[in-house]
Amino acid sequence: SDNIRMKIYEEKDHGSAYVAQRLADLIISKQKIGAPAVLGLATGATPKGVYKELIRLHKDEGLSFRNVFTFNLDEYYPMLPTNEMSYATFMKKHLFEHIDIPAENTNIVDGSLSHHDIDNHCNLYEKKISDLGGIDIQLLGIGRSGHIGFNEPGSTANSVTRLVTLCDTTRKDAISDFDGLENVPVQAITMGVKTILDAKEIILIAWGNKKSDIMQKTLGEISAEVPASYLLTHPNVEIILDQDSASLCK
Ligand code: F6R
Repeated sequence: SDNIRMKIYEEKDHGSAYVAQRLADLIISKQKIGAPAVLGLATGATPKGVYKELIRLHKDEGLSFRNVFTFNLDEYYPMLPTNEMSYATFMKKHLFEHIDIPAENTNIVDGSLSHHDIDNHCNLYEKKISDLGGIDIQLLGIGRSGHIGFNEPGSTANSVTRLVTLCDTTRKDAISDFDGLENVPVQAITMGVKTILDAKEIILIAWGNKKSDIMQKTLGEISAEVPASYLLTHPNVEIILDQDSASLCK
């Protein structure tokens, strides 16, 4: 489809540098008009190279993040933000503690709330995003289940930030991080498909052979069975692949 631009890189470092530069360009263009830049961010292996390059742009080229607001896609539940396995910790370690973003500008759902506080917290998260004028660029990885955020198969196009149950493929892929399936959380809080599709622009990244099947399915037909395929309905999506993840795409 015409609304999807696809770039295939020989070196994933080059793809990561391209994405980092896209984010830097947004940040700088917003600085020029005295406006905030609102980024939607992902965790996991996929965006690590992007964050590394953003840190380099900050340290070596003076890129400032003082006008940047971030909203992360998801957090495990239950999970203390201070736990070393939390996505809150991941973001500090891989990005936030290395740049000049004000801590109060970084947002991630809280995995430590009691059940009856979750709905209200999720609604406030949605409101905070819309009060800032919405997400300018949303970064996404993709799970082998077809999830974006933790919107697993069966998620609807109108879903918003909420508590979800992780599917088996997703929990199995997290075994090495958690040292055994029994330690992988069963649930998570995630932005919904609608929350993601409301972003003005979306950049989906996938690296490596293990993502080739799901990338082929994502670019097939739109279906709740492959939540990433909802991206085909968005007017402004860029897909960044390497030769391996693109190997089954036409
Ligand atoms: C992470 C997230 C997930 C990951 C996906 C891919 O915040 O929302 O959708 O992007 O599971 O994970 P990696 O990059 O580890 O292969």
